[in-house]
Amino acid sequence: MNIRKLGHSEPPPLNLLLLADPSIVFIKDYLNRGDTYIAELNGEIIAAYILLAARPGTCEIVNIAVSEKHQGAGIGRKLLQHAIKLAFQNGNKTLEIGTGNSSIGQLALYQKCGFRITGVDKDFFVRHYKEDIFENEIQCRDMIRLSMDL
Ligand code: ACO
Ligand code: ACO
Repeated sequence: MNIRKLGHSEPPPLNLLLLADPSIVFIKDYLNRGDTYIAELNGEIIAAYILLAARPGTCEIVNIAVSEKHQGAGIGRKLLQHAIKLAFQNGNKTLEIGTGNSSIGQLALYQKCGFRITGVDKDFFVRHYKEDIFENEIQCRDMIRLSMDL
């Protein structure tokens, strides 16, 4: 598997990115403002993430997704490790990530990779998404914010 930056003229893997965020409006905004990285296996894009400069010295992984058939095989962890290294090499001091209160597996993975919970943006998903989102039989209402010192 090879991880590389998506070229400006290449179409973004929208179907993959939509697994991480149901809002195409948010995704297009992230694509415009951030750098997209893709993981390829035998010429097929199987995973992607978007890294965004949030503030001076701080960047954020705003979208990370692995294709359904390749999930649970360590690829998400590899993408996070790639993003951590890249954010550090780019001179950042902090890397952030956020996910829903109902995303139990994602919260486990991010903490295993070294992120710490820093706050809760209460009702973020209720305010920003028209449709109710459910995962693990839990309504996704709040954004759990995590961060890592680089
Ligand atoms: N309890 C404890 N640990 C768990 C749980 C759980 N319920 N669920 C998952 N995990 C752990 C696994 O044990 C594994 O840990 P390990 O590496 O120590 O074995 C880890 O989480 C999963 O690691 P990977 O196999 O590397 O993850 P994967 O390749 O599936 O990628 C991802 C993770 C990106 C979340 C993927 O499943 C995906 O694309 N999901 C759909 C889209 C999504 O939810 N994206 C994130 C939204 S938030 C955002 O984009 C900022
Ligand atoms: N992802 C999604 N759902 C999960 C996960 C997971 N990783 N782990 C558990 N659940 C869900 C189960 O699916 C189940 O939901 P369901 O009722 O919809 O099927 C539920 O959590 C577990 O429910 P119970 O079987 O009723 O739980 P149990 O009888 O095991 O009691 C308790 C839970 C008290 C935490 C028990 O496991 C325990 O004593 N653990 C050790 C002590 C402990 O940790 N206590 C809590 C410390 S915090 C405190 O005391 C305030």
